[in-house]
Amino acid sequence: MNVLKNKIKAEGVVLSETVLKVDSFLNHQVDPELMMEIGKEFAHRFKEEGITKILTIESSGIAPGVMAALYLNVPLVFARKKKSLTLTEGVLTSKVYSFTKQEENTISISREYIQKNDRVLLIDDFLANGQAALGLIDLVKQAEAVVAGIGIVIEKSFQNGGKIVRDTGYRVESLAEIESLENGEVQFKEEEATVS
Ligand code: G4P
Repeated sequence: MNVLKNKIKAEGVVLSETVLKVDSFLNHQVDPELMMEIGKEFAHRFKEEGITKILTIESSGIAPGVMAALYLNVPLVFARKKKSLTLTEGVLTSKVYSFTKQEENTISISREYIQKNDRVLLIDDFLANGQAALGLIDLVKQAEAVVAGIGIVIEKSFQNGGKIVRDTGYRVESLAEIESLENGEVQFKEEEATVS
């Protein structure tokens, strides 16, 4: 998705060989027009999948997720990472370990909002080690609903999440795939393919 890749090139900051900072449009400040384009693109890619609900995790999945929900005309549910005052009954939970942050979160949703046989599109901002996506898949399975696809804004292809999640057999669509962050530069997957 060129508009996204251009934004990453213009505003992304390579913090290390594994971490890309995109706080100016995705993880802290949010660019609504870009989110709209991202939502439109997810909706386009998954329009034949009969999606009835979108599921993401707070916080950075919400902006792209809600835009995809708008264009697919379905509700968005976000899994919570912290205990909620109001989330008390019929709660589904899953444990998600973050290798990046070296901490475990228990993510939760109310059973009420993902119904049996819902066709759920999972959306997240980054695909790194795949643990968040696996946690969301687990919640959908507990709800006896169907994972109809997984949409990722930025995939870091040099980490193992892409393989882990694709090995589950679900369709994964990433809007920008980063092959490398070496030498302080963002190298996209397609670019490398063109060069070789
Ligand atoms: P995983 O979910 O794929 O296993 O990834 P991991 O545990 O490594 O990621 C944990 C958090 O760090 C997630 O955000 C994820 O989006 C974020 N993250 C991973 N790699 C990068 C990166 O290169 N750049 C940025 N900007 N974020 C990265 P989170 O804790 O859920 O945060 P938020 O959604 O509340 O913003």
